Amino acid sequence: MASVKESARVAAKYIQSRLTDELKDPEFAIVCGSGLGGLADSLQEPKVSIPYGDIPGFAKTTATGHAGILVCGKLGSHTVLCMVGRMHFYEGHAIQTTTFPIRVFAALNIGTLITTNAAGGLNPNYSVGDIMVLEDHINFLGLTGNNPLQGPNDEELGPRFTALSDAYDFDLRRRIFDLSANLTNRTVQEGVYAFVSGPTYESRAECRMLLAVGADAVGMSTVPEVLVARHANMKVLAMSLITNVAVTERVSAKNTKAYDMSEGKANHQEVLEVGRQAALDLQRLVTDLVTGL
Ligand code: 6GU
Repeated sequence: MASVKESARVAAKYIQSRLTDELKDPEFAIVCGSGLGGLADSLQEPKVSIPYGDIPGFAKTTATGHAGILVCGKLGSHTVLCMVGRMHFYEGHAIQTTTFPIRVFAALNIGTLITTNAAGGLNPNYSVGDIMVLEDHINFLGLTGNNPLQGPNDEELGPRFTALSDAYDFDLRRRIFDLSANLTNRTVQEGVYAFVSGPTYESRAECRMLLAVGADAVGMSTVPEVLVARHANMKVLAMSLITNVAVTERVSAKNTKAYDMSEGKANHQEVLEVGRQAALDLQRLVTDLVTGL
């Protein structure tokens, strides 16, 4: 079987072969999370779209709201590659399969990864529609033995032991907060993202636990991509759209006569709906950021 390095080179070569001369050297990769694919529409011409199915080694995405195309285009003077839809662990892919596109971006010499997702808010100060800039994460899969960097290490791709204390680029985060002054009616939070496997949403007790250990939001993606990007020494910016807020109260049937347990229940439709409106603001932050760099 080909090594990840070889497979990533093959995929990178294929992508290069599909790009016109003006698009040959992308500098930024953007991953669009659930319902956030609109970002790709804001890319300027010349634009090229490549379905994941055409790219050797890319897995198909099956999640609703994840189209499965790579769009290359311009944001101001910069060339960017936009993943519309990502691979998730809960779809049954190995964790290394979900991060393969990041290896390909590194093989294309892309220096910066901007990754977005839809997440559930845990911090009681968060509301639906808030945007959260990740300052840090808690990798529940990684802590329990499923990390995309495990296995033999290829020193050409990155170091054996990758530090994560500086994973989320300070300067890029700072710029987002400067730009967020232009967004009225949208709160931009900064917080810790807990990565869990899904596909179930968290139970009430799990939400209380996540909050207690320091998470502000919870979701099923992004962190594995961040690890591989940092291994490859890419700069990383990650942002969550808070599409729903987690339910944490305990409900006792022993002590309560009647209660509607469906109140506040998470659902994927809601996740996509909120995405549509707030995505425009998130999109604007990303386009303003890249254009201004
Ligand atoms: Cl509440 N949990 C998880 N794990 N992922 C989500 C979410 C919640 N809301 C959107 N994505």
